[in-house]
Amino acid sequence: MEKKEVAKTSEAEIAVHWKEEELFYPSTKFIAQANLTDEFVYDRFSLDNFPECFKEYADLLDWYKYWDTTLDTSDAPCWKWFVGGKINACYNCVDRHLEKNKNKAAIHWVPEPENERIQHLTYQELYVRINEFAALLRDFAGLKAGDRVTLHMPMVPELPITMLACARLGIIHSEVFGGFSGKACADRIVDSGSNVLITIDGYYRGGKLLDHKANADIAVEQAEKEGQTVDKVLVWQRYPGKNSSPTPMVDGRDYFVNDLLKDYRGKRIDPVPMPAEAPLFLMYTSGTTGKPKGCQHSTGGFLAYVAGTSKYIQDIHPEDVYWCMADIGWITGHSYIVYGPLALCASSVIFEGVPTYPDAGRAWRIAEELDVNIFHTAPTTIRALRKVGPDEPAKYNYHFKHMTTVGEPIEPEVWKWYHEVVGKGEAVIVDTWWQTENGGFLCSTVPALRAMKPGSAGPGVPGIHPIIYDDDGNEIKAGTGKAGNICIQNPWPGQFQTIWGDRDRYVSTYFEKYCKDKNSKNWRDWPYLAGDAAMLSKDGYFRILGRIDDVINVSGHRLGTKELESASLDVVEVAEAAVVPVADEIKGMVPDLYVSLRPGYDPSPELAAKISQSLCDSIGKIARPRKVWIVPDMPKTRSGKIMRRVLAAISNDKDVGDTTTLANPDIVDEIHKMSQDMIEELKESKKALMKE
Ligand code: PRX
Repeated sequence: MEKKEVAKTSEAEIAVHWKEEELFYPSTKFIAQANLTDEFVYDRFSLDNFPECFKEYADLLDWYKYWDTTLDTSDAPCWKWFVGGKINACYNCVDRHLEKNKNKAAIHWVPEPENERIQHLTYQELYVRINEFAALLRDFAGLKAGDRVTLHMPMVPELPITMLACARLGIIHSEVFGGFSGKACADRIVDSGSNVLITIDGYYRGGKLLDHKANADIAVEQAEKEGQTVDKVLVWQRYPGKNSSPTPMVDGRDYFVNDLLKDYRGKRIDPVPMPAEAPLFLMYTSGTTGKPKGCQHSTGGFLAYVAGTSKYIQDIHPEDVYWCMADIGWITGHSYIVYGPLALCASSVIFEGVPTYPDAGRAWRIAEELDVNIFHTAPTTIRALRKVGPDEPAKYNYHFKHMTTVGEPIEPEVWKWYHEVVGKGEAVIVDTWWQTENGGFLCSTVPALRAMKPGSAGPGVPGIHPIIYDDDGNEIKAGTGKAGNICIQNPWPGQFQTIWGDRDRYVSTYFEKYCKDKNSKNWRDWPYLAGDAAMLSKDGYFRILGRIDDVINVSGHRLGTKELESASLDVVEVAEAAVVPVADEIKGMVPDLYVSLRPGYDPSPELAAKISQSLCDSIGKIARPRKVWIVPDMPKTRSGKIMRRVLAAISNDKDVGDTTTLANPDIVDEIHKMSQDMIEELKESKKALMKE
């Protein structure tokens, strides 16, 4: 029998065998127009010039009052940037552009149905709509600077309007990805202490007008049970003046924004000058324990960092048409659809729908119609686009100068298709590595200054100084071929300030492992642990290999295994649950869920479907497992720990390795037998799908 590859404990070990790729160079045409062609930028942003170097980014913004202290480390490791400075994020993204560019498109909104025309919002129109909505937030909803408000909105222009109206008043917005369930929204309402929820009646996705208002009812009811009352639900309408949701409005709690706005027509609200270190927004992300973490991002530091990186890494000029296909409900959308591009007075495209719907040409028709020249997406989408229409881009007359990939490692083969077919061999590519916690890019090539290497993010961007440590804190040097834990040696302005309401978790998750002295106020003693394995090649390029913790990266989005396991334990029949990642052709990773049942319950396909559905209800469709395995028992160590390594090997059809130390080794054979049957089943259903 053929010997299978033995399951490795970490992705790091697997990827070390990847071969070095050849380099690709930017065209002279690109270099000639690029925002950053000055090699000395790396000197200017060296550690010797830290932290003052970041003044260069902060100076891209308009300040009411300049700061006194660039970096305040007195509450290490909760760093404070530009302390003493006063600034407003909405003013910087909108008002300051009016004098010269009020007629320029700020947002091109592309509805999913192709028979609906694209809407072009000028900076002036954006200004008017933000002001009217800010007046409503202040005078009707009673919100003020420092309050938190939860948004549960899809890809419609009302989402950036809402975010910027909050920013205008210093209200901290906490946007929950539209695809998340009402229950997931409730958890975030409770954690952030919001008493206002802003949502929409419905939106289009894959050809269907979804009833989104139903989620608000679930969210409010659930939040109430957990002790957080929502007094007001503000409901935008997909078609103003018309209700697109069958879910009834609750009297005295739910209000259509479009009805209320009539009272605020023509209102103007002065932007509130906020301290630079005041929180601008919260963005929740998954971690190793069940509870999502509210990453708290600052106003001045965040905005300076996204403006700087949008200008120099995304190479955005005011005359560019920039399309980032991420969802605004994730950090990429906050930083690189809304705040970064608008701070630079670019025209930013927002697309409501699915890029492969109704057919493989949709994305490229949008690019052609709007003459998009900067394009930004994730490997999962690139893989999906390649699968459904490998030759499609050539049929459309668009030309990108610049393309981004973000969110997960990209396979060199997929990178090359992106470059040759989507970019038509003309566009530079930046592979940007970063995280929800970081506000902006950490590793990437500066596009006119460094060659591209498929599959590698590149060196730290200017001002970011990554380092790889082994588990004992020894540096793993360039070119050794060994992987380790990637850390950043220095703070930077885009870095989150803390986990909302949980400073201890912030310190223990990101700093404890490599902190040199817990009492130190010196930033040099506090390297930031990113939670990814990486290796560094001789030429200084970082290759990111994957998470070192219990986080599964599904289509570039983070799901905590504990989060999924605790959701499945909500089903009464389930006694124990274990989630493991399985490699997937399009999504990168998908979860497999193993459960054992309480005594007295029997396995059935209906029960498996019920458990699967409970994950979707608790978290969202993104969490749907590939398969729910109802097993007689979990493989366990003698001390009772579930051996996820063994389950992961079975799910990925790898050798399980040594199981003799298990308390119940026989169970492994039993589960293995189940898995072989299932793999056959999956192959059959795939064949059937192909025929269709
Ligand atoms: O594992 C890394 C992976 O995505 C994680 C961060 O996920 P999230 O907070 O959802 O933010 C995604 C978008 C910023 C990282 O810890 N990741 C992100 N970008 C890359 C990546 N892995 C490899 N290459 C990348 N370019």
